[in-house]
Amino acid sequence: MSDKTDMRKIHIFDTTLRDGERSPGCTMNLRDKLLVTEMLEAMRVDIIEAGFAIASDGDFEAVKAISKVVKNCAVASLCRALEKDIDRAWEAVKHAVHPRLHTFLATSPIHMSAKLKMTPDEVYERVVSMVKYARNLCPEVEFSLEDCSRSERPFIFKIVEGAIAAGANTINIPDTVGYAVPSEFSDLTRDIIANVPNIDEARLSVHCHNDLGLGVANTLAAIEAGATQAECTINGIGERAGNAALEEIVMALHTRQEYYNAYTDIDTTKIYATSRCVSNVTGSPVQPNKAIVGENAFAHEAGIHQHGVMANPLTYEIMTPESIGLPRNKMILGKHSGKHAFTQRLTDLGIKLEAIKIEELFTQFKALADRKKTVSDADIEALAHNMATTFRGTAELDRFSTIASNVITPVSTVRLRVGEDLVEKVSAGDGPVNASFSAICDILGISCRLEDYQLSAVTEGMDAQCRASVRVRLGDHAYRGNGISTDIVEASILAYLQAINAGLEASKVQQQE
Ligand code: KIV
Ligand code: ZN
Repeated sequence: MSDKTDMRKIHIFDTTLRDGERSPGCTMNLRDKLLVTEMLEAMRVDIIEAGFAIASDGDFEAVKAISKVVKNCAVASLCRALEKDIDRAWEAVKHAVHPRLHTFLATSPIHMSAKLKMTPDEVYERVVSMVKYARNLCPEVEFSLEDCSRSERPFIFKIVEGAIAAGANTINIPDTVGYAVPSEFSDLTRDIIANVPNIDEARLSVHCHNDLGLGVANTLAAIEAGATQAECTINGIGERAGNAALEEIVMALHTRQEYYNAYTDIDTTKIYATSRCVSNVTGSPVQPNKAIVGENAFAHEAGIHQHGVMANPLTYEIMTPESIGLPRNKMILGKHSGKHAFTQRLTDLGIKLEAIKIEELFTQFKALADRKKTVSDADIEALAHNMATTFRGTAELDRFSTIASNVITPVSTVRLRVGEDLVEKVSAGDGPVNASFSAICDILGISCRLEDYQLSAVTEGMDAQCRASVRVRLGDHAYRGNGISTDIVEASILAYLQAINAGLEASKVQQQE
């Protein structure tokens, strides 16, 4: 490890649970968020943005629960520059060891006139008064100039100076619509540093979206120009084309440490496991050629490369798989593998479980090994993340049977355990999945709308496990669920039940309040 005495520390602000969750299909429930939080804290991010507390009761509860469990890094909640938003965010985040209020207001001409319908003077007054308001509640206040990359320089300087004077200790420069290009974004960063007299009193942060595929490049350009906080998400998930990917920023700084003369406190060996965890709980696969965490990122297909890597890994590898926690050897387990080999593989994959959970997972692994010839790393990760986010809900699957063909109407018989009772219903539908979902609603006496349904294979091969991911609307709220099985109908039923159970649990909590 090189001497860090003269290097700048770059603070990593992870917004997977806030901006990342806005990615279509990436909504997470409380259990998912707590699992991801545990991984982020173990990876040593500096700040976890846990949510946008006023957005929904679910967001509020998630920010509050995360604030209560995190010990070693700051927890932030986003809030608009409005008293009611700031109050709600503070209510949720005040439980944290290091709470942070992250408030924002747009500063570009188009946002101020078309969206906010405010004059620049009104925007300035609001920023100053709301930063002061937030700072009276919380010692750590971050202010973001939404759409900063399309804002006018003199106005940016005035807002930044005013926000710092009002008590903001972090100023964030977002490229909200992913419009900037690297040289322009580094000029913007440099100009802010050169033209804002009190800039030394705050940390300068950047937050880049990826609409032109430049999120990471812009972030690194700003770091080179003097920014010391990077906002990013695991796997680059986020609205539209996503946010700058944490693993790419961190590994660029790590691999090119001498060039940037900067470092992060991230434990890079936790990157792979965290990426897999986020992919599994959101049901959002990572593209195979994705930098750092894609399946092919360390695979050398061409013979000439393989030869070089065998002679000396540095010929074609600029970083090692081990540095991101990716086990170099892919171990294939099967039905004869024992608990020792299985436990060792969990450790190699960076999956931490208590002894009692290992027992339960081992039983699931054995059942899977009976259905499939070989069990791969991806299978084990899917089982582990599924187990960590599944809970005993009101209704559990006891058994099901379907009849489906292209000549008769598909029918499904589902038996659920509801409390102490076993209840069975038969339903017909357009297909076996639809028939099973109808039988479940019939048993529980509920009506719900299926808003999203996705199926994907966890691994390649005819005997692959499949992951079903659903979003279900119950009343005013939507809930997500995941299920895995080698049988697509079973995976779908498990996902549907998980979403419904989350909804039933949420309505119980509301009734108690
Ligand atoms: O992209 C953006 O501008 C944001 C801010 C609220 C920080 O997410
Ligand atoms: Zn954003």
